[in-house]
Amino acid sequence: MNKEEGKTVAESKTVFTQLIMPNDTNPLGNLMGGNLMRWMDIAGGICAGRHTNNNVVTVSVDNVSFKEAIKVGDVITINANVTRAFNTSIEVFLEVFTTSLSSNIPKKSNNAYFTFVALDEKTLKPTKVKPVVPLTEDEVKRYEGALRRRDLRLILAGKMDPKDAKDLRQFFRDLD
Ligand SMILES: CC(C)(COP(=O)(O)OP(=O)(O)OC[C@H]1O[C@@H](n2cnc3c(N)ncnc32)[C@H](O)[C@@H]1OP(=O)(O)O)[C@@H](O)C(=O)NCCC(=O)NCCS
Repeated sequence: MNKEEGKTVAESKTVFTQLIMPNDTNPLGNLMGGNLMRWMDIAGGICAGRHTNNNVVTVSVDNVSFKEAIKVGDVITINANVTRAFNTSIEVFLEVFTTSLSSNIPKKSNNAYFTFVALDEKTLKPTKVKPVVPLTEDEVKRYEGALRRRDLRLILAGKMDPKDAKDLRQFFRDLD
């Protein structure tokens, strides 16, 4: 695919930074998971919106696990990058990094895939999105894995018959 047909990942890359304040935390002084997910949703939505040039809505959030507590006074940075566009939906990869007052070396806290659907401005119905043009090795890897992740989430949502999940089935066959 060439650049004229779609948009590169860099064109919509979004970086979201936030200082963790006392009202973001639980009684232990750790960031509440729900607040982090909200910021990830905002960063992902901005990124998907920049790619599609449409309003977007979140249609699905893949597994989000919290490896380490994020403390009040820490600074988090969320990097959001599109991985692949399908027809009207687009997958965004989010990575969260934390720095503390004592160390400016970012530690990765978690990552997740969110899927957004672009809506037509007038009808508010799902509308076609431009393809993603992956350029770097990591971008190509995430682009290639996106079909399998899509198959899996549509099966789990009861929107796809496992028999139709060609990419996922091929992936498991290749592992044999
Ligand atoms: C998102 C929404 C517009 C989709 O409407 P729909 O009638 O299901 O439309 P479709 O079945 O045509 O699906 C649209 C796209 O979403 C994808 N999709 C639907 N359910 C999905 C799921 N659970 N996971 C991943 N993708 C999903 C479809 O695969 C399709 O993508 P594609 O066109 O790239 O193939 C509708 O479900 C909605 O408005 N949901 C609420 C969104 C919202 O308010 N989010 C904020 C959270 S409160």
